[in-house]
Formats: sequence, structure tokens, C-alpha cells
Amino acid sequence: MAETVLEVRNLTKNYAGLPAVNAVNFSIRAGEVLGYLGHNGAGKSTTVKMLAGLLEPTSGEVCFHGADIRKDLAAYKRRVGYVPEESHLYSFLTGWEYLDLVGTLRGMPLAVREDKSARMLEELSLFRHRHTAIAAYSKGMRQRIMLIAALLDDPELLILDEPFSGLDVVSALVMRRLLNLLAANGKAIFFCSPVLETVEKVCTHLVVLRQGELVASGSMQQILASRSELAESFFQLTEQVDADGIAGRILSAIAAR
Ligand SMILES: Nc1ncnc2c1ncn2[C@@H]1O[C@H](COP(=O)(O)OP(=O)(O)O)[C@@H](O)[C@H]1O
Ligand SMILES: [Mg+2]
Repeated sequence: MAETVLEVRNLTKNYAGLPAVNAVNFSIRAGEVLGYLGHNGAGKSTTVKMLAGLLEPTSGEVCFHGADIRKDLAAYKRRVGYVPEESHLYSFLTGWEYLDLVGTLRGMPLAVREDKSARMLEELSLFRHRHTAIAAYSKGMRQRIMLIAALLDDPELLILDEPFSGLDVVSALVMRRLLNLLAANGKAIFFCSPVLETVEKVCTHLVVLRQGELVASGSMQQILASRSELAESFFQLTEQVDADGIAGRILSAIAAR
């Protein structure tokens, strides 16, 4: 069996005493793609920030090859690629300048970072936009530039916060194939999504999160075998919502005079 790259034990984060992530456990081995499925507000981004070493857990731990990431956060970050949900950072830089900055911070030689950046920009249809400020990029273009930045230094672990949101269909297809290939080449991948169909297509393993708590987890095969159970735990929340009623009342409010 492949080596465990990332292991999360009893991971908990409270905001003002209320748990956003509550005693979550999972692990990812080399070659696995773990999908982290949950509705808005379930605690996905909070988990991601703790995995990326940007947010201190209230309790519990995140271990990389068996050691708590807080022991040597700088060394950990060098081996991890992270794509945040929203990138407000550095939007005054052009795509090319941003990749140059990331490559420099990661200590990559100039020729190597320029060659890798150019090739990935070309493949993700961003090469001709490389001298445009990121501020002028669409959401999908930002996602792609952040993905290139995350992959630039060949990370062992990739952490992606809703990587498919805002992507056009072609980029989404390329992204899917790329995640499969990266996993086949021994990378460990964690990504979260609110869309069951998305994780189904890409992941080898799945964790379902509801209001900060893990409600189902296992290999994709196991989960698919008990699909109705999963769908039930995942959709419980939406089923309680009377969407028709709400839409109707909004319509009458709009028409009121
Ligand atoms: N910085 C913060 N301060 C207080 N509450 C927060 C903060 N960040 C997130 N939350 C709350 O934690 C819960 C989980 O949020 P988040 O992890 O962003 O969920 P998701 O990414 O699944 O949509 C939500 O109820 C959210 O309002
Ligand atoms: Mg989020």
C-alpha cells in the first residue's frame, strides 16, 4: 500500500466558541484524490486553511508523513501546492509577474521557472494574457493562474478549494484529466466541492461534511455502493427547504405594488 502523505486527527476549529469543523478524521495516501463534499458553510474552507498551515486548529492535528505540520511549517509549505477559493492577493501583478514571484519565493532557478510557466500558461490558454494584471482576469482565469502557481514547484500534496467553480467546460475537462494524471504519478490530492457529480468523476475517496461534522467517508467504490445513503446524508439539508414556496413568495413580493 502507498504511503500515507497527509493525516488529519480530530481536527477542530471553533469560531467564537461554535465549531466550524468538529473532530474530523481522514487521511490521504500517495496516488489518492480525496473529495471533501459539503454545502456552503459546511466547513470546507476552514478545513482547507488548516491543511494549508494558514489557520491554527482549536484542537487536533494535521500530520505530513507522520509529523505535525507545525513542527516545520516552512518545510511543509515547500512540498505543498495550494489553490484558495478566492484570490484577492497580488491582483495588481500580471500573471507572468505573479508566477515569477512564486517561483522566486520557492527558490527555483530563473530558466526553470520561466520554462515551466510558459508551457503551463500555453496549455491553459493564458499565455497571451500573461502580461495582463490579474485584477482584469475572470474567475476561471484566476483559478487557472493559481493552479499553475500551485503546480510550479512540483508539489507532493495538492490542496484545492473548489477548483472547478468558475471554470469553463474545456478547462474543467482538462483539470479533471490533470488531477487523474497527477494522482497516477503518485501525488496526493485534496479538493473540496459542493457538487456531488464533480467529486464522483474525479475522486478515489470521499468525505462528506455537514455542519462541520464528518457524516460519511470511504473509498469512492464503497460510497457508490451505498449511494442512496450518501445522497440522503448530503441532501438532507436541501430537502428541508421549500424552494417552490420561497420562489413563489419572492415572485409575489416583486409583483406587489
Ligand atoms: N473567520 C471567521 N470567523 C467566524 N466565522 C467564520 C469564519 N470563517 C468561516 N466562518 C464560519 O464557519 C462556517 C464554515 O465556513 P467555511 O469553512 O467557509 O465553509 P465552506 O467553505 O464549506 O462554505 C460558516 O458558518 C462560516 O460562517
Ligand atoms: Mg468555502
